[in-house]
Order: sequence, then C-alpha cells, then structure tokens
Amino acid sequence: MDFVGNHILSVSQFSREDVQRIFKVADDVRPYAMRKRITRVLEGAISSNMFFEPSTRTRVSFGSAFNLLGGDVRETTEVKASALAKGESLFDTARVLSGYSDVIVMRHPESGSVAEFAEASRVPVINGGDGPNEHPSQALLDLYTMRQEMATHGKTLDHLRIALIGDLKYGRAVHSLCKLLGLYDNISLHLVSPPGLEIPEEITDELRGKGHSVMPFHIMEDGIHEVDILYVTRTQEERFPSQEEADKYRGLFRLNQAIYTQHCEPNTVIMHPLPRDSRAQAQELDEDLNQNPNLAIFRQTDNGVLVRMALFALVLDVVDEVDNHAKPVTWYTAKRHQPL
Ligand code: NCD
Repeated sequence: MDFVGNHILSVSQFSREDVQRIFKVADDVRPYAMRKRITRVLEGAISSNMFFEPSTRTRVSFGSAFNLLGGDVRETTEVKASALAKGESLFDTARVLSGYSDVIVMRHPESGSVAEFAEASRVPVINGGDGPNEHPSQALLDLYTMRQEMATHGKTLDHLRIALIGDLKYGRAVHSLCKLLGLYDNISLHLVSPPGLEIPEEITDELRGKGHSVMPFHIMEDGIHEVDILYVTRTQEERFPSQEEADKYRGLFRLNQAIYTQHCEPNTVIMHPLPRDSRAQAQELDEDLNQNPNLAIFRQTDNGVLVRMALFALVLDVVDEVDNHAKPVTWYTAKRHQPL
C-alpha cells in the first residue's frame, strides 16, 4: 500500500511486503526509541490522541512515539471531556480536529466508528482499537515481537505454531493478529477459548482458505502442547451484554508456571497484549511467570513504541529524513541501554 497520507484502519490493508516495510522502519528507529539519539524530524507536527475507551499502553506509546520523532501530542481521553458528550457527530468532530492536527489516533467502543470518523477527516487517522473489531497497531507490534522471539530460536514467522487463548470472540487484538498471520506460510493455530467465546467464523474461514491449520480447543491444557507461542488474552468484560454474563467466564483459563512446565515445550514464548487481569478471580496469566525468561510481555510493550514510530514516519512521509534531524542525547539514560 501507499502509506503516505493514508489512514491505517485495518490490517486487511497490508500485504506481506507492507508488513516487512513497517518492520524495517521500526528496526531503523530503534536508536531513537532507546534514547541513544534524538530526532526532531516531526518538529511542528501535531498528533491528536482521541481515546474514548480506557487505555494505558496504546495511548501513551502512540504519544511517546510521536514525541520521539519530535512532534507534539494533544490528548482527549473521555467522551465526557469531548463535544461528543454534547451530541456532536463523529463527522463534525473529525472535520474540526483535522483542522488542528497532522494526524489523529483514535480509539472508540464501536466497531467501524474509526473508519466513519476517518471518512470525514482531512488528515490520516490511525485506528487505536474500534470496539471488538480491530486493533492494527497491536497486531503489528505482536507480530514484530514474534519475529524477534522466533529469530532467537532460529525460526521465522513462516511455519509458526501458535495458541491463542481466552476471549477470542470479543478480543480485537486477536482478530487483527489472525488476519496478519494469514499472510505467512503454513501457520498452525490452536484456538483455545471457553465454549461461547470462539473467534468469529469469517476469520477461521479466511485462514483455512489460505491453507493454514486451524484447530479449536475448549480445554486450555489440551491446546498449549506443541506450539512455539502462547498468546493469552483477557476476558473483555466491558463488551459483554451484562456483567453477570462476563462473570461466567472469569478465571476459567489461568496459565501459571506449573501448567506451563507440565504441558508446554521448553522455551515456549508467552505473550499477552496486556493489561492482564491480576484480580484474584481472573489471573489469566499468573504473576508466578514473571521470572520465566520466555515471558515476552514487556518486550511486546517496548516494541509498541518502535512500531508506532514507524507508522507515523511512513504515513507522514519522513522515513528518509529521520537521521538528517538527529542529535546526541545529553541526559541520563543508563537504564535504557538495556536492549528492548
Ligand atoms: C488490548 C485492547 O485494548 O484491545 N489492550 C491493548 O491495547 N494493549 C487488549 C485488552 O484490553 O485486553
């Protein structure tokens, strides 16, 4: 695809080459993300971060990514703090905000809302998550992390064996991830969910249509054998018709060190888009895994900055200019010198 000036709304926009391009730019901006150098390439540019659903890492890492390229960020974080609470349409908000910004990142609780907003926007819009539908930047950073983790084991994304675990019905991160995985060769997917929270059929149909192996499981221990990666997800309780309905699924699947040791191949990588639900009744990813070197969850979050910097650089057409605006870092950065 042509990235320059275009919206990023769905991973369906990307070819395998496009993903490689994003990853190459992400690799190249690593010194800036690690504070080894500063670049001011987006000096004067403004990004509007519109987050109408709870968010920590997506919101802050999109903001940091833009700042690390030298740009400024304006944030609105709640519907009640915006004119949407006064009945303003997405169309009007988009027309107004795009007059104030060079790019807009938006998260919204309804599927398709970010695309509707983008239609009225005069600047590129990046989807930060639209309801249960898609979360393109999360899927890109997950795939980038998978590529990195597999490389340390002498493997590639082709022939990847992966288990997706938890709420696969409402989890937008897994929806986008499955579509991206479909671009690679001979993927083997274990889809491990409680009955009632299976992934939408159109996603499995598409994967099978491309020749990938897709196997559903309802018991966690059955689905975590013989895979390279476990990708655990939270029950998306905010998307259920009622809290009572969500509570039926709480704590059904809990991965901990004992289950991992008993059922997984050595060095199986553990991922999660985060946040993990650490409340006593949930705990889908136990904190006793924190010392497990295969737990890649914080490598994922660090990689989010690189991938989001890459998206901004591509969409705003500054990829070849980043190094021309570079300066050395002068402040204390010792802790950052650990590899991401
Ligand atoms: C995910 C999301 O918002 O879809 N979080 C994130 O952006 N890292 C997953 C989740 O909330 O469970």
